Amino acid sequence: MLTIGVLASGKGTNLQAIIDAIGRKEIPAKIGIVLSDNRDAYALIRAEKAKIKSLYISPGKFKTYLEKKVEKNYVQVLKKEGVELVCLAGFMRVLKRDFLNAFPEKVINIHPAFLPSFPGLESWKQALNYGVKFTGATVHFVEEGVDSGPIILQAVVLVKDDDTPETLHQRIQEKEHIIYPQAIKLIAERRIKIKGRRVLAGDL
Ligand code: GRF
Repeated sequence: MLTIGVLASGKGTNLQAIIDAIGRKEIPAKIGIVLSDNRDAYALIRAEKAKIKSLYISPGKFKTYLEKKVEKNYVQVLKKEGVELVCLAGFMRVLKRDFLNAFPEKVINIHPAFLPSFPGLESWKQALNYGVKFTGATVHFVEEGVDSGPIILQAVVLVKDDDTPETLHQRIQEKEHIIYPQAIKLIAERRIKIKGRRVLAGDL
């Protein structure tokens, strides 16, 4: 059974979707630990409620990434718990090469847009402001670039005339909660092959 580590900075609805899918026995995996760079992340409480080990590790002095020694500590803690797959679920910091090299092709992320459109922050707002008619959610492998790794699964969300950033983000999140557990299931069942930029999963 695959051991997962989840990194989350915020409310943790994606973490909850993963917890629930594992609880329904849809994914042959267990969550070894939840780590957060934010002491007040509701994700930590969700972990506690689900009786999953969780830990706040202070990110250090930078805003957008972890201090080098802190990042090393994140890796150590994850390895100690036997984590094989790292799932970023609203983790608001960019991971550097040393972290990614510690888990080659085993770090994934959920992004609230139909990549490669609108990488970066608040992409539902970017989509709304740009005026696209469709946006969505993307699960992808993490590489050094921001939101740029090979795509595992995507879902489309229709933009409505009366959408606000909040209503659009809400519908994107509903899709996230479906495709993130699905992507983890594919990996846990070893059904995924990476060929360059393409991630092949056979017939879904
Ligand atoms: C999600 O929209 C995800 O796509 C992005 O951050 C948000 C996290 O939400 N990376 P939650 O904390 O899982 O509710």
